[in-house]
This record gives sequence, structure tokens and C-alpha cells, in this order.
Amino acid sequence: MSLSRKRKAFLFLIFEMQMSTKSPIGVFDSGYGGLTVLKEIVKALPSYDYIYLGDNARAPYGTRSFDTVYEYTLQCVKHLFDMGCPLVILACNTASAKALRNIQQKDLPVIGPDKRVLGVIRPTTEIVGKYSKSGHVGVLGTNGTVSSESYPIEIKKFYPDMIVQQEACPMWVPIVENHEFESDGADYYIRKNIDNLLAKDNKIDAIILGCTHYPLLIHKIREHLPDNITLLSQGEIVANSLTDYLQRHSEIQNKLSKGNSVEFFTTDSPENFDKAGSLFFGKEVRSKHLGL
Ligand code: DGL
Repeated sequence: MSLSRKRKAFLFLIFEMQMSTKSPIGVFDSGYGGLTVLKEIVKALPSYDYIYLGDNARAPYGTRSFDTVYEYTLQCVKHLFDMGCPLVILACNTASAKALRNIQQKDLPVIGPDKRVLGVIRPTTEIVGKYSKSGHVGVLGTNGTVSSESYPIEIKKFYPDMIVQQEACPMWVPIVENHEFESDGADYYIRKNIDNLLAKDNKIDAIILGCTHYPLLIHKIREHLPDNITLLSQGEIVANSLTDYLQRHSEIQNKLSKGNSVEFFTTDSPENFDKAGSLFFGKEVRSKHLGL
């Protein structure tokens, strides 16, 4: 073996060893949306290592069937486990709504009894009562999240008397994915869906943005909302809930490595991911391709 090939092999070995000693927190989304959550998690808990995986090649998930979202999500969770993550956050409402329960109850005991998978719906529903005086709340989400009824079901567990109305916004993810944030089309669909939601119940005083893509539309959404309505976006809520979870679960916390690193993987083109990803993450993003 030539010296330079030996050197390459040695460097690769070191790289592999570094990879294998890391036990990062895995953060998963169908595409870019989960980066809005990762951004807040890293802000709240900067010392850990993180791996973000966006399944951009198969996004959007919002219009896919229960079985498909479950199958895709499970596949990505397994990849994150293989990359050394003892804890995975599904930073995607659609995956949390359609796959989380099955993964926690059916798959984890087999594929990772000592690992954990958490979602974004429960942390949001736990605290929604703090933001509503009227007891009437709205949820905006993808078709998949809305039709799963996960939000009304989870909210009732914490606030049995709360009145919950939902509105599916199937055009909002494509608007975000295509960078049409400021277009007339964005105004049209945002106004339409908000008017539909408020027409269902004019006492709504808090609205959950039940899709991790929607924070990129937040200023437009605010323009179309009456001032008395509070908007809940999930990044900070999930970050606070994770902080609390790690304090209560030292058995998981102790497994996580602390190297201040964030790595990004996409199932589609890293070039495209890096361009759009930085908008969602608020900082430069350098991703690698992951073949499924
Ligand atoms: N970001 C995902 C969510 O929170 C939705 C995007 C998609 O439809 O894939 O539901």
C-alpha cells in the first residue's frame, strides 16, 4: 500500500472511530421543517451532539397514507439508531401523528429497547392551556396531521373541556418548499385557511402551528390574524420539553455525547438541502447524502 493510501486508510479509521464514539440526539423530519425545531433545541441545549435527517427525497409526507408515513419514518429512525443515536425526536407533526405510537409500542421493544423516540405533538398539547383564556383553540396542520385527530385527542387528555377546531392547509408546505413566502399565492392561501378556521369558532384565542414548516410563514400568518389570538410555534416548546425530559431521564441523558456538533443528512441532493436548509436553520448548513 502506498504511503498516501495508508494515510487515507488511517484518517478514515480515525473518522470512523470518532463517529462511533458519538451518541448524538437524532432529529428527523420529512424535509426541512424540523430544522426550525432543531434550531431551538441547539439554542437550549448547545453542548450535545446532533444528527439531523431530512427525508427530502420522499417529502412531503402530509398527503401520504398512514402506512406509508409509518414505513418511511421507521426506516429513518432505524438509520438514526445505526448512526449511534440513543434518542430520536420526530420533529415532524405528520410523522408524530401517524408513526410515533406504533414505533414506541411495537418497534422499540424489538429494535431498541434501551433507546427512545419522542414526538412534537405531546409537548405542544401539554402547554396549550396556558395560552388560551377562552378555552377555544385552533390547530393548523397538514392533511395527515388533521385527519389523524391527534391534536384534539391529545389536548382532551390534558384539558378535557377545551374546544378544538382544526384546519388542514395542504398548500402551505409547498409554498414554503418553493420559497414562495412573500407571494400573492401565500397571502391567498394563508388568509383562506385562517378565515376557514375562525369561521368554525370565533372564540378561538390560541392557534397551534401544527407543522414544523409553518414558522417560516409566521409573519404572514400574523398579518392575517386578529391581535388577540396567540400563535404557538413548536421550536421553543419542544426545546423546553426536551430540556425537562433529559433532567428527568438521567438513564438517557447519560448516554448522550457532548461534543457541540451538528451534522446534517438528506435523502435527496445535499446542494439543494444546504440552500434551503439555511433559511430554516438560520445558519449555514452543510449536509451529506444518505441513501435509504
Ligand atoms: N414538517 C412536517 C410536519 O410538521 C410536514 C411536511 C410534510 O408534509 O412532509 O408535519
